[in-house]
Amino acid sequence: MRNPKIKNLWHPCSQMKDYEEFPPIEIVKAEKEYLFLEDGKKLIDAISSWWCKSLGHAHPEIKKAVSDQMEAFEHVILANTSNSLIRKLSKKLASFSPGLDKVFYGGDGSTAVEIAVKMALHANVIKGCPDKNQFMALKNGYHGETILTLALSDLGLYKDPYRGLMQEIQYIRVPYVNTTDDPLWSNCGKMWSKIEQSLDAVADKLCGIVFEPVVQGAGGMLIYSADFLKRLSQWCSKKNVYLIADEIMTGMGRTGKALACEHAGIEPDIACLSKGLTSGWFPFSAVLTSSDMYELFYDDYETHKAFMHSNTYTGNALSAAAALASIKIYERDGVFKNVEENFPKFFNTFKDMTSQTDVFTNIRGIGAVVAADLILPEKLKGKRAGYMVYHEAVKAGALLRPLGNTVYWMPPLNISDEALENLKEITVIAVKKVFQ
Ligand SMILES: Cc1ncc(COP(=O)(O)O)c(C=O)c1O
Repeated sequence: MRNPKIKNLWHPCSQMKDYEEFPPIEIVKAEKEYLFLEDGKKLIDAISSWWCKSLGHAHPEIKKAVSDQMEAFEHVILANTSNSLIRKLSKKLASFSPGLDKVFYGGDGSTAVEIAVKMALHANVIKGCPDKNQFMALKNGYHGETILTLALSDLGLYKDPYRGLMQEIQYIRVPYVNTTDDPLWSNCGKMWSKIEQSLDAVADKLCGIVFEPVVQGAGGMLIYSADFLKRLSQWCSKKNVYLIADEIMTGMGRTGKALACEHAGIEPDIACLSKGLTSGWFPFSAVLTSSDMYELFYDDYETHKAFMHSNTYTGNALSAAAALASIKIYERDGVFKNVEENFPKFFNTFKDMTSQTDVFTNIRGIGAVVAADLILPEKLKGKRAGYMVYHEAVKAGALLRPLGNTVYWMPPLNISDEALENLKEITVIAVKKVFQ
């Protein structure tokens, strides 16, 4: 029977009919790594509310920064106006990677990728090579929900119905690893020559390559070789192809670095940040690029070189306040370094869960992301095992939201040891319920 509570609301990324059987979870409050429900129960937010609540919910310092800013102004058009807050944030973001010292703002992750792609394409038009206008992306990559970002994404589940509106994109093969200990992580030489051949074939027409550095999120929490990125970056600079890092999920400490590109020791031409940038307080994104890129667009108005991208909420002041406060906490508390140092404990806890359940393969992890794939027994073949695990986990006390049959944890970066231990026990209970 249809849920009478869902009269007007159409939930994202959901088959609404599923809610007949298992209604949406009613949230009344959220604090730190916990979601509090109307029936008095609490759930561990094991996926940081779609990977963005990096400092957990309701962080008091971010709350204070946002409410202080609210006293001054909440939003003023950023074309033709400026303020000290947005300049301070830009200066801070420009310090993350020495060559990325110009910052353009967007409203959400998808918009940031759109901005980056438009900027690269426009740059080639200004440079007089408008026919160097193709883009490539990585196999299994995901870059957002707008038509352009879906076109770049290699995930049929999200893009198939809309293909009629999309250009065909070629995808680059990716050398996957489970951890940084895999020799492929630091040397993918054997696979590279074939990959290079496929790139060389289209180099003349290629404007840019868009990629999620080191971890592909929606594609199934897939980790890949840092050496591959290094080689890709070298190839791009040789062939004048823009390297566009979609750091929306990986950036701001998720892999233990400010930018995940650091794992490969590379600097992209453009990097997109969102999610953890405000610790998930507001829809907000930043596109970082170089002075060289900026200078291409800098000229008299009549030359029509200006980058005219103009989202209403660009540079929103409340978001900027949340971003600055988040970065202050990341830096003061050494959050990114803690992620790196805590990885063995985090990964071992996850591995412990997999050995207690004994139904997982491809156990993988980096930073504060761990994942593994369910091996389905005969009785579960053709069933939505991951979705069933989600049900059981909610009943047992955690919001886990497997991607297909991939179970992953991506909790707030500052999750407590106690919550992590509970998350392990809850995951074991949920998986056993479904598999036994
Ligand atoms: C790597 C990556 N790029 C882009 C996006 C899109 O961001 P948004 O949902 O804010 O548009 C996401 C969202 O999950 C993402 O993980």
